[in-house]
Amino acid sequence: MYTFLASKWTKAALFLLGLGPLAAIIRPFVRGYTIPNPLEFIQHATGDWTLRFLVFTLTITPLRQLVHLPELIRFRRMLGLFAFFYACLHFTTYLVFDKFFDVHEIWKDVYKRPFITVGFLAFTLLIPLAITSTAGWIRRLGGRRWRILHRAIYISACCGVIHYYWLVKSAVIRPLFYAALVGVLLVWRVGEWLLRRRRTALANAVPQRTPVNASQ
Ligand code: HEM
Repeated sequence: MYTFLASKWTKAALFLLGLGPLAAIIRPFVRGYTIPNPLEFIQHATGDWTLRFLVFTLTITPLRQLVHLPELIRFRRMLGLFAFFYACLHFTTYLVFDKFFDVHEIWKDVYKRPFITVGFLAFTLLIPLAITSTAGWIRRLGGRRWRILHRAIYISACCGVIHYYWLVKSAVIRPLFYAALVGVLLVWRVGEWLLRRRRTALANAVPQRTPVNASQ
């Protein structure tokens, strides 16, 4: 299993899989199929895939602990960048085909429509995460600061779910399903953090043994 996960081919295969949704979005246009509302089709598909990739990214840490496969970490960055990639497509669709580059209209929307406000926040939060996702940035920021910054992905995922929930009128099942997934993934992390704190407290409480001849 380690050889499989460590192989560069596995990473390449995952990269191609990540491009699958993009191919599925482009295909009907290339084939000349009739799409009743192309803008809605692209907006919904890119929005769905942004949220899915955010969930995939958040799943890596609990999964590697559950199945004892630390090598899974190799795929986390790529999944996160795919989330950002589909978010960019999602936002670009809105910017180009919905608002025709009218920045004033966009600000009005961000200000007046709560579901756009949280969507915008979710997207904005992903920008620094994508920029600082490289090894160079981890070094520059230092592991601790980098980890704190990258906790913004939890806020982004929550905003993404709220964005989805607020935009659907009655079909709330799917946003609620994503809410449950993100909720479980967050609760896992809080539980893990509490456990770690308890372990550290216990370790500190155990009296340190001094070697017999240490003071001699
Ligand atoms: C991380 C960021 C974001 C996520 C996860 C996200 C997710 C989603 C999802 C899941 C949908 C619904 C898809 C469906 O119905 O199947 C959606 C729709 C939509 N999103 Fe986003 N979104 C994000 C950012 C944004 C931003 C920045 C904007 C614009 C400023 C935006 C504008 C829209 C619009 C206009 C729709 C379609 C609404 C409608 O059909 O009435 N989203 N988004």
